[in-house]
Amino acid sequence: MKAPTLPNMRHATLRQMKVFEAIARHLSFTRAAEELYLTQPTVSMQIKQLADTVGMPLFEQIGKRIHLTEAGQELYAASREIFDCLERFEMNIANRKGLKTGRLRLAVTTSAKYLTPRALGAFCKLYPDVDIALKVTNQERVLERMIENMDDLYILGQPPEHLDVVAQPFMQNPLVVIAARDHPLAGRKRISLQRIAEEPFIMREPGSGTRTTALRLFDKHHITLKERMELGSNEAVKQAVAAGLGIAVLSRHTLILEGEHGPLTVLDVQGFPIVRNWYAVYPAGKQLSVVTQAFLDFLRDEAVRITPDFCGIPAAHVRHAKKKSAR
Ligand code: PGA
Repeated sequence: MKAPTLPNMRHATLRQMKVFEAIARHLSFTRAAEELYLTQPTVSMQIKQLADTVGMPLFEQIGKRIHLTEAGQELYAASREIFDCLERFEMNIANRKGLKTGRLRLAVTTSAKYLTPRALGAFCKLYPDVDIALKVTNQERVLERMIENMDDLYILGQPPEHLDVVAQPFMQNPLVVIAARDHPLAGRKRISLQRIAEEPFIMREPGSGTRTTALRLFDKHHITLKERMELGSNEAVKQAVAAGLGIAVLSRHTLILEGEHGPLTVLDVQGFPIVRNWYAVYPAGKQLSVVTQAFLDFLRDEAVRITPDFCGIPAAHVRHAKKKSAR
């Protein structure tokens, strides 16, 4: 009597597996042949060869219907795994191809320009061939660009309420009160908002998200600020504050390169820091490019790595923590 031989699946071809998978899915030779644009005899031949390799029948016919044998069921599960795996591989390769030649156009607010290069630096290490175009302007102008669909993605401190957008928070954005290091209020504890309001303020220009947020807090407490000067950039504001012209509210991120002994200090004021988030935003319905999606995923997954120490827990992780505790 002939001894049973072990199946050697290395002799099976991908084409045979594809035909088998289609028949098993449809439980029909005819529909599999149609799907694969093959003739019925070709399909039957492929399955006969595969069954010979396995050394057992893969289908059985009961009445008019075909069924998977036990061996067939196992092979079907294996074929799904093989094709899922190949599909993932294909997607990864497509991503790589897209990323290699990809371009990422970002528009960010002037305050976000302090953290964006940090994120881009880490991102470009992973994807060195991505071209980056970075537009830095204030919140109002970033929103105008969003309406005109001029960029792939926008980073700002407050998602617009009047636009239909998708907003992904990824990092905290504390707004603080800054003063010259030798300012009389430096080092004082829990300074009241009323006391702060006696100082001359250096303000960002109208259209700035920082300005809007700071004014909202003081308005809420019915406090009017003494605005000494209005300047169109965070750097100009910092210079004016360092020169002793007044104090200012800025994102803590704007001080990232100042160091411990620089000319500026953060005042301990009640109600501060105003903790906001940084958001990566795009218009709802926008088809994201492969590169843009990769950058969004990167911001979500790598927030911990790019978050400066002063921010504490990155926004993305605050969000996850909330989701978990809600269950
Ligand atoms: P801006 O940025 O003050 O430079 O507009 C802050 C923000 O995005 O809210």
